[in-house]
Amino acid sequence: VTADFLDELTLRAMEERDLDAIVELEKLSFPTPWSRQSFESELFRNSHARYAVAEYQRCVIGYGGMWLVCDETHVTNIAVHPTFRGRGVGRLLLRTMMLTATMLGATRMLLEVRPSNRVAQKLYFAHGFRPVGVRPKYYSNDGEDALILQCDQMEVTGAADSWN
Ligand SMILES: CC(C)(COP(=O)(O)OP(=O)(O)OC[C@H]1O[C@@H](n2cnc3c(N)ncnc32)[C@H](O)[C@@H]1OP(=O)(O)O)[C@@H](O)C(=O)NCCC(=O)NCCS
Repeated sequence: VTADFLDELTLRAMEERDLDAIVELEKLSFPTPWSRQSFESELFRNSHARYAVAEYQRCVIGYGGMWLVCDETHVTNIAVHPTFRGRGVGRLLLRTMMLTATMLGATRMLLEVRPSNRVAQKLYFAHGFRPVGVRPKYYSNDGEDALILQCDQMEVTGAADSWN
C-alpha cells in the first residue's frame, strides 16, 4: 500500500456487481453479517437507502450505508476490509456519507454501536457524535446493548465527494 493510497480510492454508489465482495466483507466484519438478500433488498426495494463502496485497484475494500428519512439519516453499516483498516478509509466513507446526506437534506445522523467497539466509537466521537441513549440487548448474537449516537453538525469537509 502506497503513501498516496487514499488518492487511489474511488467512492461510488454500490451496484449489484459489488454484492459478492460486500457479502465477504460483511462476514469478515460482523458476528451476524447481513445476507446477500438483505443487500439486494436495500439496493432495489428500499427507496430510503443509500450505499457507497470504497474501491482500491478495482477491489471493493469498504462500504457504508444509510437510510435517509426527512431530515434524519440512520447509518446501517460501515465496514472496511481488515487488511485496509487504520488507513483512513472508514473516515473517508463516513465523511462522504455525511456530505451526501447533507446534500439530500439531512441535518442529523444517528447510529448504533457496541459499547465494546472502541475503534468505531473513536471514529464517531471524532466526527461530532454523542451518546443519546441505549438499546438494551440490541445485538442478537450475544445480547450486548447498543449505544445510540447522534451527530447534529455533520462534517462535510475532507470528504472524497458526494457519490449520489
Ligand atoms: C470501524 C471501521 C469501519 C473503521 O474503519 P478504518 O478504515 O479502520 O478507520 P480509519 O483508518 O479511517 O480511522 C478513523 C478513526 O478510527 C479510529 N481508529 C481506527 N483504527 C483504530 C485502532 N486500531 N485503534 C483505535 N482507534 C482506531 C481512530 O480514531 C481513527 O482516527 P485517527 O486516525 O485520526 O486516530 C473498521 O475498523 C471496521 O470495519 N470495523 C469492523 C466493522 C465495524 O465495527 N463497523 C462499525 C459498526 S458500528
